[in-house]
Amino acid sequence: MSRQQPNQDSLSPLPPPPQSLSDALALVFEKHFQAPPERLVQAPGRVNLIGEHTDYNDGFVLPCAINFQTVVAASPRADDWVHVVALDFNEAVDQFDVSMPIQYREDAPWANYVRGVVSTLVAKGLRLRGANLAISGNVPQGAGLSSSASLEVAVAQTFKSLFQLDTLSPTDLALIGQQAENQFVGCQCGIMDQLISARGQTGHALLIDCRSLDTEAVSIPTGLAVMIVHSRVERGLVESEYNTRRQQCEAAAKHFGVQALRDLSVFDLEQNRGQSLDPITWRRARHVVTENARTLAAAEALRTQDLPQLSQLMAASHASMRDDFEITVPAIDQLVDLIAEQLGDQGGVRMTGGGFGGCVVALVPLEKVSAVEAAIASGYQSPRGKRALVYVCQAAAGAGPL
Ligand code: GLA
Repeated sequence: MSRQQPNQDSLSPLPPPPQSLSDALALVFEKHFQAPPERLVQAPGRVNLIGEHTDYNDGFVLPCAINFQTVVAASPRADDWVHVVALDFNEAVDQFDVSMPIQYREDAPWANYVRGVVSTLVAKGLRLRGANLAISGNVPQGAGLSSSASLEVAVAQTFKSLFQLDTLSPTDLALIGQQAENQFVGCQCGIMDQLISARGQTGHALLIDCRSLDTEAVSIPTGLAVMIVHSRVERGLVESEYNTRRQQCEAAAKHFGVQALRDLSVFDLEQNRGQSLDPITWRRARHVVTENARTLAAAEALRTQDLPQLSQLMAASHASMRDDFEITVPAIDQLVDLIAEQLGDQGGVRMTGGGFGGCVVALVPLEKVSAVEAAIASGYQSPRGKRALVYVCQAAAGAGPL
């Protein structure tokens, strides 16, 4: 899910590169804590190429980490206090004691991602002391690019490196971030966002089996740009609608007597059409079942650089989110159509992320990037008259020291 965004207009199409981000962070760290930081750690946001709302159904997803990150400057403390400064919230501060129960803060939502991760680490019995942290990021907030997952994974990675928690694997860091979000922050997200933030690979998307957490890196052809287009449609109702979709999927799995929708085939579904399952829940299930198949096929198409096949699969994914899962909005549908028209069968485009606004992802041959940008500039504005923001991204590495 995504962190609260104070003002969508403050999004910049050209966020500072990581070097200037970490320089600014080191300065603020020193101002607040009177010494330079001992560690600089980063964790990236992500864009999902295909496989939407499949992760919590034990299914398949194909995201890549992007070159937009949360960065943490940190030093250990000799006591049990964690002191945090958030640059992106006007240098707001938070403090808590790791040797006491860590409370949720109603008045500072951003602080709960840090508190949630630390409280999860403590609950696992890991030996921590206090730390001084300064945090900043350039993952656009409220856009469906997983700024919150990148914050959670960055904080987990920071504590791992400060206190030599070497037994924690990247997958463990992702599971800790997800647990913090599910149990402390209260969003029932799946594992995709945290896992790709922890395990992303430069130049690759990751095909993730969300049941076994096995991953397979799939190279993104160098001639293909990963373009993210922010529709500037604010993601209203996202949490309640997300949780409703999750419940509908669970109800459908129960109806069919399977552990998760991952275990259902299109054939099983078709057999039941118009019978005992209500039509809305049936369509929700059809989205997940067909999306799993599309995701596996898209990984193969990316591997073999089969652009017409990718184009068709991404279009079918979008149509399924629009008609069966009902998580798109008209402005996003329009944006997708406009980009699809430019691409023909030489690239793919679909809405990405949880839905109800946010971003569209497109795989665009490099020679078509300017034409697509021009078409968006002349042919799209949000219902509130805002222009789309275009980010041409690189598939980046997962969390680690900077
Ligand atoms: C959000 C959640 C993910 C996933 C996507 C939809 O990003 O955090 O776990 O469910 O929505 O694919």
